Amino acid sequence: MAKDFDAMEDSNRSSNHSIHDVSDLQRRVFLRGGSVALAALLAPLAGCGTVDAVLNRHPALRRGPKLGFQGVPAGIGDALVVPPGYVATALAPWGEPIGIAGNMPAFKPDASNTAAEQAVQMGMHHDGVAYFPLKGSSSRGLIAVNHEYTDDGLLHVGGFAGMNAEKVRKAQNAHGLSVYEVQRKGDTWEMVRPSPYARRFTMETPFLVTGPAAGHPMMRTAVDPGGRTVRGTLNNCASSMTPWGTYLSGEENWMSYFGGGENPTPHQRRWGMRKDGAYQWEKFDERFDARKHPNELNRFGWVVEVDPMDPTSTPIKRTALGRAAHEGAWVAQTRDGRAVVYSGEDARFEYIYKFVSRDKIASGGARANRELLDHGTLFVARFDADGTGRWLPLVHGQGPLTAANGFADPGEVVIKARQASDLLQATKMDRPEWLTIDPHTGWVYCTLTNNSARGQPNQPGVDAANPRANNTMGHIIRWKEEGDFDGQGFQWNHLVLAGDPANTRPEARGNINGDIYACPDGITFDQRGVLWIQTDTAATQMYKGELANTGNNQMLACDPATGETRRFLTGPTHCEITGVAFTPDGTTMFISVQHPGETPSERSDPREPRKYSNWPDYQSDGRPRSSNVVIRKRDGGVIGT
Ligand code: FEO
Ligand code: CA
Ligand code: CA
Repeated sequence: MAKDFDAMEDSNRSSNHSIHDVSDLQRRVFLRGGSVALAALLAPLAGCGTVDAVLNRHPALRRGPKLGFQGVPAGIGDALVVPPGYVATALAPWGEPIGIAGNMPAFKPDASNTAAEQAVQMGMHHDGVAYFPLKGSSSRGLIAVNHEYTDDGLLHVGGFAGMNAEKVRKAQNAHGLSVYEVQRKGDTWEMVRPSPYARRFTMETPFLVTGPAAGHPMMRTAVDPGGRTVRGTLNNCASSMTPWGTYLSGEENWMSYFGGGENPTPHQRRWGMRKDGAYQWEKFDERFDARKHPNELNRFGWVVEVDPMDPTSTPIKRTALGRAAHEGAWVAQTRDGRAVVYSGEDARFEYIYKFVSRDKIASGGARANRELLDHGTLFVARFDADGTGRWLPLVHGQGPLTAANGFADPGEVVIKARQASDLLQATKMDRPEWLTIDPHTGWVYCTLTNNSARGQPNQPGVDAANPRANNTMGHIIRWKEEGDFDGQGFQWNHLVLAGDPANTRPEARGNINGDIYACPDGITFDQRGVLWIQTDTAATQMYKGELANTGNNQMLACDPATGETRRFLTGPTHCEITGVAFTPDGTTMFISVQHPGETPSERSDPREPRKYSNWPDYQSDGRPRSSNVVIRKRDGGVIGT
């Protein structure tokens, strides 16, 4: 989700920062970006872990150079550009019927589809994506994709004007998730419709609540006095597939859907509550009026787990993973088979978490692991200036997390994970977005997309992990756990500080070894150990100032051993590139193109829907549509080779 940097949520006023201050000498080393410093930052990693078994099953993935494609220039036009020898095709854009038998209303380019039709069509603003092979196939499977938010200027005839209950229902039905079936056809893929797997999850879908917050008094509302069932999921951003075959999706900036009036409580303020919601929902659906239903917002901010392979399954909000503005969640596995789930929250000066499951991952898929993410320990990260770090347990009764400090029980600790992390003196990060785990080395990588407030008056200053004031460019941090993924401590460094060497301000130059970019967001390792990086520069910031040369949002490939980085793809005007998944054989990549043509005011003018972009249809009477995209090599080879 691109954000207006100055309007976005920024609610951490806790004072836990001074221990992370870093010496001027060390800071200069980080910022100088000279060859010695760069070599140190990008040095090959010692103590590498095991190679993913996938490489053994697919020997072709071992062949060829790490970055085997011809890079593309920075993008400025309204087109999606891939390297020579590759073909990219839009798949399942907003409004396409999802494929429910007997209920497949066509998309209307004038945005006149009804709320009921939207409920069985692809939602808006595609984000995290995963591919679930059917019978192990790399030619037929299911796509699960998040729909992060809506641009109501494009969603409705007339946009926000005359907002009413029907428009709010349509917007709610354009949020959530989609599951649709796909099959390969030559160089591209097509939707399989109808399909018994086709499914939408909207604001009307019941979600079960499990874990420490299930049934908690802070989760109870008038319509759900038991506090165990929530209608809908909100602002779903990044996603991943678990080793047991389910889909994890993060509820990110859910607070912007609520209106809190003039006097929010301290708890509401800490979670960024504003007087009015950004979508006008509270005017037509009173559960989003936090003055009338103060507990409703506690029911969002969770990681949700979905089983795409079982169309009758009930999706679950996993509260043991903590409540946050969750970008997403990613699973590593300890040597003895337990799940370790990493997540961050995309907000300025918020935190990075990990959850270690009590039990081992069972064979037998989703059903055999139905309670795996309900029992375990949640931790928050502290990055120390000496290059080490600690995982601080969010355990009720331990340290400051007591009733005397406002935590009555384990449920209140996870509901108030931010406040708990404040007390534990966790490190305030520059907007942690995606995480990914190197399948060859076990190093964990996290994008920190930017933070222009870092070092500003009355804001936290730089620290070792977030070393740049007015961080307009973002960076990527990485760490290696002590012993195993459940380790209590870790060693960390930066893969890269993003930037453009042409900038005059030293903090905006960065130290990229290769093609330049800014605002890293999506990040994923493929089976060969290539790190794919996606960017999310807001339309308000593009093509000017320190971002004058980075162009449209893009996707790059990086060899993490050397830091070499090459631009693989550029998107259409003002879009964000996000979400990435591969078929098991590595020959198809799926991504999302989100909000092509986003206006600098963040809401499109319904009178000029094609003002900035007309991707992907380029119809004279159409409008830009977020979409998945299929990328193949024309020779059928492994992507990136
Ligand atoms: Fe939804 Fe943090 O991007
Ligand atoms: Ca983002
Ligand atoms: Ca994102």
